Amino acid sequence: MAKMHWILFLHILMGQGCLFTCRLYEYHFIAENKSWSEAQTYCREKYTDLAKVFDMTDMSRLRNSTQNQGEAWIGLNNNTGGNRTWHWSLPGVEYIQNDSSWNQNGRQETEPGPGNCGRKRDKLVDVSCDSTMWFICYDGMKKDNKTYLIEEYKNWTEAQSYCRYNYTDLASGLDQVDGEEIEALVKSKATPFSAWVGLFRDSWRWSDGSNSSFRYWDMQLFNDEQSNKTCAMTLLNRSGKWSSDECDKEKPFFCYDDKLILIKENKTWKEALDYCRESHRGLVSITNPYQQRWAEVRAKNASSPFVWLGLRYSCTLDLWFWVNDKLVCYEKWSREGKTEDCGRAVGMMRGGPYEWVSQRDNETYNFICSLE
Ligand SMILES: *[C@@H]1O[C@H](CO)[C@@H](O)[C@H](O)[C@H]1NC(C)=O
Ligand SMILES: *[C@@H]1O[C@H](CO)[C@@H](O)[C@H](O)[C@H]1NC(C)=O
Ligand SMILES: *[C@@H]1O[C@H](CO)[C@@H](O)[C@H](O)[C@H]1NC(C)=O
Ligand SMILES: *[C@@H]1O[C@H](CO)[C@@H](O)[C@H](O)[C@H]1NC(C)=O
Ligand SMILES: *[C@@H]1O[C@H](CO)[C@@H](O)[C@H](O)[C@H]1NC(C)=O
Ligand SMILES: *[C@@H]1O[C@H](CO)[C@@H](O)[C@H](O)[C@H]1NC(C)=O
Ligand SMILES: *[C@@H]1O[C@H](CO)[C@@H](O)[C@H](O)[C@H]1NC(C)=O
Ligand SMILES: *[C@@H]1O[C@H](CO)[C@@H](O)[C@H](O)[C@H]1NC(C)=O
Ligand SMILES: *[C@@H]1O[C@H](CO)[C@@H](O)[C@H](O)[C@H]1NC(C)=O
Ligand SMILES: *[C@@H]1O[C@H](CO)[C@@H](O)[C@H](O)[C@H]1NC(C)=O
Ligand SMILES: *[C@@H]1O[C@H](CO)[C@@H](O)[C@H](O)[C@H]1NC(C)=O
Ligand SMILES: *[C@@H]1O[C@H](CO)[C@@H](O)[C@H](O)[C@H]1NC(C)=O
Repeated sequence: MAKMHWILFLHILMGQGCLFTCRLYEYHFIAENKSWSEAQTYCREKYTDLAKVFDMTDMSRLRNSTQNQGEAWIGLNNNTGGNRTWHWSLPGVEYIQNDSSWNQNGRQETEPGPGNCGRKRDKLVDVSCDSTMWFICYDGMKKDNKTYLIEEYKNWTEAQSYCRYNYTDLASGLDQVDGEEIEALVKSKATPFSAWVGLFRDSWRWSDGSNSSFRYWDMQLFNDEQSNKTCAMTLLNRSGKWSSDECDKEKPFFCYDDKLILIKENKTWKEALDYCRESHRGLVSITNPYQQRWAEVRAKNASSPFVWLGLRYSCTLDLWFWVNDKLVCYEKWSREGKTEDCGRAVGMMRGGPYEWVSQRDNETYNFICSLE
C-alpha cells in the first residue's frame, strides 16, 4: 500500500516523467563572424566543441536556439583527404564492417560503380548514388514486419527522403539488412532484383570525433564534389538544411555544451552523490536509450570497472529510484545484476555492453555527474 501511494505520488510529482526526452547537451548560437577553425577554437574554450547534430530532434533544438535566419557553421568538415567511410542512414546505427555481407564483384552490367551508396541483391554492393532502383524502407513504429519493399525507381537520395517522410528511414544495420524479414522480401519475387538500403559513404567528420551518421544536406545547393568547400554550415532560412563553404569565410556558428562529466576518482556511492550535488547538479539519471548511450561514452574512460549512476534501492519502499526523483522507466540491467537488497546502488559497466549491475554502496568507483 505504502509503495502504491509513493509511486502515485512520484507520478504526480513528475507529470509525464517517462516521456520526457531531455538531451544531455545544449546548443549555443554565437553571433560573431569567425572562420570555421576560429569558431572551433572558441567553442572548445568556452563550451565543449562546435555543434554536432545527432538526428532531426537535435536539428529542431539547434534551430530553436536562435532567431537568426542566416548561415552558421556547424562542427562538420571534410578535411579527411577524401577518405570516405560507410554509414547507415538511420541515426544511432553504427556501421560495422562484415565482409561476408558484401560482394564487391556482384555489380550487374547495368549498374554504374563503384559508388558511394549501398544496395542489396543477395549481397551488398556499392553503386553510384544516382542510379535508380527499388528500395527498402524501415518503420520503427511497427511491432513486427518493420520493413517494406517500395517498387518504385528512385535514386538513393530520393529513396531516403521517401522513407524518412512515409516511414522512419531506409533499412539500416546488418541485423536488419541480412535479417529474416528482408530475406523473405527478396525471396518473395520470382526474379532477383536490386534495392537500395540505408548505406552511404562520405568523407565528412564531426569536430568532436563522434561518428554520428546524420546528414541534412540541401541537395539543391550542396555538391559533394566541390573540393574547396570543406566546411559545413546550416542555412537557417532553408529549414536549417546544410550546405558547404570555404572554411576561411567568416560566419556566426553553433557550439554545444556537454551536460555530463566523468569524475575519475574512486568514491563510495554516498560520497559520489555528495560530490556531484556540491560541485555540479547531481549524479546522472538515465531515462531513455539516448541518455544511456551518452553515459556510455563517458563510462568508457573510467579507471574503475564500474561507474556509479544516481540509481539506488530503497529498502523501506522496496523499489529502485533515481535520486533526482525520476521513476525507473528505462532499464539496462545485466542478466543477473539486479540484486535487490539494502545498501545497494547501481554501477554501469566501464565497457560494452555497458549494463547496470547492483553493487554494495560502500564499494568505491568513478562516477558521472550531470551539470544541469
Ligand atoms: C557578420 O558579417 C555579416 C556579413 O558580412 C554582417 O552583415 C554582420 O553584421 C556581421 N555580424 C557581426 C556580429 O559582426
Ligand atoms: C522548436 O520550436 C517549435 C515551435 O516553437 C516547437 O514546435 C518544437 O517542438 C521545438 N523543438 C524542440 C526540439 O524543442
Ligand atoms: C571532400 O574532400 C575530398 C578530398 O579532398 C574531395 O574529393 C571532395 O570533393 C570534397 N567534398 C566536398 C564537398 O568538398
Ligand atoms: C580512413 O578512415 C578510416 C576510418 O576512420 C581509417 O581507419 C583509415 O586509416 C583511414 N585511411 C586513410 C588512408 O587515412
Ligand atoms: C558476419 O556476418 C556473418 C553472416 O551474416 C555472420 O555469421 C558473422 O557472425 C558476422 N561476423 C561478425 C564479426 O559480426
Ligand atoms: C536524385 O534525383 C533528384 C531528382 O531527380 C536529383 O535532384 C538529385 O540530384 C539526384 N541525386 C543523385 C545523387 O543523383
Ligand atoms: C508479416 O510477415 C509474415 C511473413 O512474411 C506474414 O505471414 C504476415 O502476414 C505479415 N504480417 C502483417 C501484419 O503484414
Ligand atoms: C510518400 O508516399 C507517397 C505514396 O504513398 C508518395 O506519393 C510520396 O511522394 C511519398 N513522400 C515522399 C516525401 O517521398
Ligand atoms: C565510432 O565508431 C566506432 C566503430 O565504428 C566505435 O568503436 C566508436 O566508439 C564510435 N565513436 C563514438 C564517439 O561513438
Ligand atoms: C574554389 O573553387 C572555385 C571554383 O572551382 C573557384 O572559383 C574559387 O576561387 C576557389 N576558391 C579558393 C579559395 O581556392
Ligand atoms: C580506482 O579503482 C580502480 C580499481 O577498482 C583502480 O584501478 C584505479 O586506479 C582507481 N582510480 C583512482 C583514480 O584511484
Ligand atoms: C561493505 O559492507 C559490507 C557489509 O556491511 C562488508 O561486508 C564489506 O566488507 C564492505 N566492503 C567494503 C569495501 O568496505
